Amino acid sequence: MSVNESHERSAESRAAAAPDELLEHEYDGIREYDNPLPKWWVWIFAGSFWFSLAYYFHYHLSHNGQTVAAVYEEDMQQARELQAKASLAEPVSEESLGKLMSDAALMKDAQVLYGLRCAPCHGGRAEGLIGPNLTDSSWIHGTGTLSDIFAVVDQGVLAKGMPAWGKQLSPIEVRKLAAYVGTQRGRAVPGKAPEGTAVAEQ
Ligand code: HEC
Repeated sequence: MSVNESHERSAESRAAAAPDELLEHEYDGIREYDNPLPKWWVWIFAGSFWFSLAYYFHYHLSHNGQTVAAVYEEDMQQARELQAKASLAEPVSEESLGKLMSDAALMKDAQVLYGLRCAPCHGGRAEGLIGPNLTDSSWIHGTGTLSDIFAVVDQGVLAKGMPAWGKQLSPIEVRKLAAYVGTQRGRAVPGKAPEGTAVAEQ
């Protein structure tokens, strides 16, 4: 049986089962059968319709879905945290805190933590509020070296209302915050008047 014959036969048997209906319209002699859409096409269409509704709900209405950029940023932050934790092997010193201080991305994370934990007393720009201005060059405790700052942040000054963060935060968080205060030294943001003893610029 030739290919043509078999083709004709299957067309015949189809016609017997359900005669193809021609639609009314005609364009330049071309007419169209009223055939149903293939099943696979209908399934893909229905599938993508429901998928788009679920997608819209998940990402746009419920806000449970995170954008690719947000997931990436979260992963990167965790990676920075892990990397920073390696510095816990070194003792607290100007050098080890200085390394954290020069890591710009890490200091951005620290800024967020500062906003949560420290800004209520020291102001959003570290300009001082209940606690002293951290951007001037005067220090009540020590002389504003990174180790001095670390000691105050870690131990607090309980009698004066500065909490001992070493008891509330993880060791790396305390180091990060001390380094962050280091980045604010000498920026001289207008705010609370200097307290303590003025020291030469760090
Ligand atoms: C509940 C209020 C409060 C919070 C929260 C707070 N501080 Fe303080 N902080 C103070 C006060 C008050 C002082 C001044 C202590 C004194 O007079 O001896 C101080 C002092 C300091 C000093 C020493 C300043 C100097 O001149 O010697 C540093 C550094 C410091 N805080 C950093 C931080 C950091 C970092 C955080 C967040 C982890 C923080 N503080 C959160 C109230 C607070």
